[in-house]
Amino acid sequence: MDTRQQRKKEVSSDEWYTPKWIIDSLGPFDCDPCTPIVPPYPIAPLTYNKKQDGLAHAWHGMVWMNPPYSRELLRKFCERMAKHGNGIALLVNRQDNLLWQEIIFPTATSMIFMRHRIKFIRPDGTSGSPFFGSCLVAWGHECDQRLRNCGIEGKYVVLNE
Ligand SMILES: C[S@@+](CC[C@H](N)C(=O)[O-])C[C@H]1O[C@@H](n2cnc3c(N)ncnc32)[C@H](O)[C@@H]1O
Repeated sequence: MDTRQQRKKEVSSDEWYTPKWIIDSLGPFDCDPCTPIVPPYPIAPLTYNKKQDGLAHAWHGMVWMNPPYSRELLRKFCERMAKHGNGIALLVNRQDNLLWQEIIFPTATSMIFMRHRIKFIRPDGTSGSPFFGSCLVAWGHECDQRLRNCGIEGKYVVLNE
């Protein structure tokens, strides 16, 4: 496989894990409904991986969500978070797509356009940045407060009071 194909495969993979400093800045969380089979560190006491299917179970309390990137799953996880109404999601910065227009903008409380590209953790323990920037999105009053006060660099914006 040439380098470009390899890079494309990497970028389209679901296995880009959140760096711990982001969870330390925003947590603690009660539930991570899309967790790796072998997580690099614990994010929440209640977790579901792809074998268990986070969409097939009840979500509890304040949710951390860095969802799988494949379009169908991404939409389903975001719809579920919008319905749950209590959590923070880490999403790709692509506001022109239907996911943002139809689900995120109408339902989320607030967001941060992150100033810097994130160095995600890869399954082999190395870190890397995909080609896109990221946003943090909050649903619910408490998660909005966490976003507002977290100190993560970027532009904080209220979406729905
Ligand atoms: C972008 S990673 C984020 C992992 C972790 N939540 C974090 O913040 O570091 C998305 C994860 O969702 C997992 N996943 C894929 N489909 C899933 C499903 N139906 N239910 C639960 N997890 C799933 C993938 O295996 C992957 O580890």
